[in-house]
Amino acid sequence: MYRSHDCNSLRKTDIGKDATLAGWVHVSRDHGGVIFIDLRDREGLTQVVFRPEENAALAKQAHGLGSEDVIQVSGKVAPRVPGTENPKLATGDIELIPAELKILNRADDLPFPMDADIHNEDLRLTYRYYDLRRPELSRNLRIRHRAAKATRDYLDSQGYLEIETPILSKSTPEGARDFLVPSRLMPGKFYALPQAPQQYKQLLQVAGVEKYFQIAKCFRDEDLRADRQPEFTQIDIEASFVEPEDIFALTEGMLAAIFKATLNIDIKTPFDRLTYREAVGRFGSDKPDRRFGIELVDLSDDFRASSFKVFRGALDSGGVVKAINAKGFAGITIGQVDELTEIAKTFGAKGLAFIKVENGEWKSPIVKFFSDTEKAALQAKLKIEEGDCIFFAADKWDVACEVLGRIRLRVAEIQDLLGTAVKGQSNASAARTSDWDFLWVYDFPLLLWSAEENKWNAMHHPFTRPKVEDVALLDDKTKLSEVRAEAYDVVLNGVEIGGGSIRIHETQLQDKMFGVLGISPEERQTMFGHLLRALRLGAPPHGGIAMGLDRLVMLICGADSIRDVMAFPKNNRGMDLMSQSPADVDPRQLRELGIKPASDKKVESEWPAQ
Ligand code: AMO
Ligand code: AMP
Repeated sequence: MYRSHDCNSLRKTDIGKDATLAGWVHVSRDHGGVIFIDLRDREGLTQVVFRPEENAALAKQAHGLGSEDVIQVSGKVAPRVPGTENPKLATGDIELIPAELKILNRADDLPFPMDADIHNEDLRLTYRYYDLRRPELSRNLRIRHRAAKATRDYLDSQGYLEIETPILSKSTPEGARDFLVPSRLMPGKFYALPQAPQQYKQLLQVAGVEKYFQIAKCFRDEDLRADRQPEFTQIDIEASFVEPEDIFALTEGMLAAIFKATLNIDIKTPFDRLTYREAVGRFGSDKPDRRFGIELVDLSDDFRASSFKVFRGALDSGGVVKAINAKGFAGITIGQVDELTEIAKTFGAKGLAFIKVENGEWKSPIVKFFSDTEKAALQAKLKIEEGDCIFFAADKWDVACEVLGRIRLRVAEIQDLLGTAVKGQSNASAARTSDWDFLWVYDFPLLLWSAEENKWNAMHHPFTRPKVEDVALLDDKTKLSEVRAEAYDVVLNGVEIGGGSIRIHETQLQDKMFGVLGISPEERQTMFGHLLRALRLGAPPHGGIAMGLDRLVMLICGADSIRDVMAFPKNNRGMDLMSQSPADVDPRQLRELGIKPASDKKVESEWPAQ
């Protein structure tokens, strides 16, 4: 037996007992010949003390131990010398006095110290197997496990079956680029890795499964960010004979079970709900962070006759004038003005007018254009006070909302309005119900106009059902932007953690949708023939949702990036630095696949030296 206890279990009540522990040398200190070792395993730390006067040979052996050496020690549990107890450690009242020490393995020079705050993430990812030993990451993996287990238990209790679907599959139009896998047996043909099991889970409803779920790997070849990875995990759900209400209740129950299992808190259900128009209109985002105020205020009606041409021009061409009041932000620096203006321009604004209220005065070059009535309206609607800073956006509705939504988030960040809430989360035991703002956003637009491609695209995916009241609008090309979908997202603290919809289950409506999306009848057959045929064979009404498990666990763990809750993530350039993939392959493998690399595309390998 390697051990009788783990490194987090010995207590005062064990004093006098024999114990054998195994683990890694976390820290080793030499106090005048006495060697103190903090022995670590995944459960915690226990102090092991080698005193030369008790066992000189053993103390000598211990002297040669280095950080991360793997050892086994057997001995007696003893009380710590009075005054040297460590109340921060669960095992802080005792220490182990070893009678035997076995070195199970030695650790080489370490890539970085275990307890240092390492900011070089690439270095950490290169030595991920070592990085993962750190208590914080090990805790994240454990929380992820608990979340997944709670998910399975909950969905099982609701009658859902866990069913695997293929990884080698056919391209699914979820909006990102596919990863392709060449077929050897059919040279020149490709599988696509699934962006989501969307079509399979719908086909399982045609198959009469009725309640399906899967903790599914998804693959999307898109630009990466802190909350995006090329492969990630969804809690994927689909059910027959359901309405949005059924999916809302199921999702809320599941999230409640997950928060109970991971943080032992009872989240507030049912969640609030906002339509897409309300969410974007009030917070400038379809995933609003409502933990702070600074809501968008519409001033269009107050400026229709304005002599300020920036506002008037936007309104005359069908746009809006909106504003936010950043309380206590009048001290804004020139650098901050430049930064915020740059953000506004990135999201399509022509400028970012603002007013600072200092010494009872409205300071801004634009105030001189405002009439007294306009000023009174501003005052009343924005509740302007000393120290405030008002930002304006005059533009098309969606641009004005998005711009102010981004400014709102940046101002909150600068003012550290989220500091306490966010930091509270990283300490799981301090988690409180009020730290978690869950929200449903629903009634999304069905379609989005792509100026680039000069066509309509599905906002979610092409299988999403239009709302019954809006189906007729699909026949009117001028009304397509108004068609709402039976689609919903679940948002937590400003992060989209899940999304889904009720699906189209009739061939005619699906055909019509493909038509609106400009997919020709021939393309429909080659790309979606299987689905259209299945819908013809008695497809039940169905719908579902998929939660981003990584994002959810990231929020639960208080992590900054989903990389911190994945065992072996890619870096922000899609590279696995540990195994160095993607990598060159043997030309023979390519020949077998009938693939010839374009020689002009060859770039120098950029792997850092190890
Ligand atoms: P959607 O594309 O909205 O819906 O994805 C569902 C959820 O998955 C998470 N997510 C990601 N997480 C990490 N990295 C990524 N690259 C990434 N992309 C998405 C998000 C998102 O809310 N088939 C539909 C679901 C359905 O209709 O049932 C789908 O995949 O948290
Ligand atoms: P201008 O008259 O173009 O110099 O603009 C006056 C002020 O309004 C400047 O601070 C601009 O940054 C700002 N501004 C210009 N266009 C817009 C707009 N569409 N929305 C909000 N502010 C704007």
